[in-house]
Amino acid sequence: MQNLKMMYTSHYAPDLVIKNDDLAQIMDTSDEWITQRTGIKQRHISLKENTSLLATRVAKQLLEKSGWDVESLDIIVVATMSPDAYTPATGAIVQGNIGATNAIAFDISAACSGYIYALSIVESMMKNLNFKRGLIIGSENLSKILDWKDRSTAVLFGDGAGGTLVELSDQEDSKILSSDLKTIGSKSEYLTAGETKTLETFPTNVPHNFKAFQMEGREVYSFATREVPKSILRAVKAAKIDLEEVDYFLLHQANARIIKQVAKKLKLDEDKFPINIDEYGNTSAASEPILFDELVQSGRIKRGMTIAISGFGGGLTVGTHIIRY
Ligand code: ACO
Repeated sequence: MQNLKMMYTSHYAPDLVIKNDDLAQIMDTSDEWITQRTGIKQRHISLKENTSLLATRVAKQLLEKSGWDVESLDIIVVATMSPDAYTPATGAIVQGNIGATNAIAFDISAACSGYIYALSIVESMMKNLNFKRGLIIGSENLSKILDWKDRSTAVLFGDGAGGTLVELSDQEDSKILSSDLKTIGSKSEYLTAGETKTLETFPTNVPHNFKAFQMEGREVYSFATREVPKSILRAVKAAKIDLEEVDYFLLHQANARIIKQVAKKLKLDEDKFPINIDEYGNTSAASEPILFDELVQSGRIKRGMTIAISGFGGGLTVGTHIIRY
């Protein structure tokens, strides 16, 4: 039986750091409000580095770290809600940038659950198509789709990318133990970005315009605190382990209050729920792989540990993997 093993992790965030006080200079907000409601202190903002470039930087770091021949990659999937374009896929641009000529490449759109959904897709495709090596990247340039006059959303997000090299192996000691994915499309209007309009008349001279990011924050908050614990419990049950056996719960970094609430609902110590939202803000699909890499690099996550990775957000989508790292 072949299993998907998480081999190498990496992340990248643009150099420009915007602190809460910087935002207070340009909109009616304050460090106190943002910190108390979300836990965010700063975010990285991308200037002139589009989503594919952020992802390419991560891909190159991963290839360097692993020493893998780029031509040994069979599949590249980029999870993003802020792609360079409708087409080509950001993943295809990354494939071209790094010269991964043997890899198929495409994007998936599942907002802040993107990395979680991508991991399932890559695992299934690699097993079914007999692929050996894959690259999954969550990459977001959210600053380009935000309405910078809307304080209710502008203060929450940041840019960045995180990725993982995966390999199919015969080893039993390192693998995805279980996965749980759920979509609630009837609530899709709670979080939207880039909505497009059909033509009103033909021919038309109306220029293309796209709607900026919009969110019903309270609705998404209650969805997250209700659905994430359930998803974790379903995944833990499917993995046939006890909740207490999970060493760390890596949750999508949308709001520190949501993470603490999930820990409370599961009656677990908050220390098991690492937080880095203070540094990055909400980077959507990039948030889980950025956090994952930071914990691997710092040595907090070690081989043999059991971790839960959960995402939630636009769609509305939610999902959890239980991974024996
Ligand atoms: N600065 C100061 N005041 C603000 C700001 C701001 N940046 N934004 C809103 N306010 C004001 C509002 O106008 C409101 O004022 P009022 O009471 O006078 O009307 C007050 O603060 C409270 O606003 P709420 O929106 O009710 O604040 P809430 O406590 O719900 O916090 C937040 C908002 C942080 C967005 C929260 O609802 C949340 O985190 N929701 C979940 C978001 C999430 O999880 N997203 C994940 C998915 S993201 C994805 O998929 C891409």
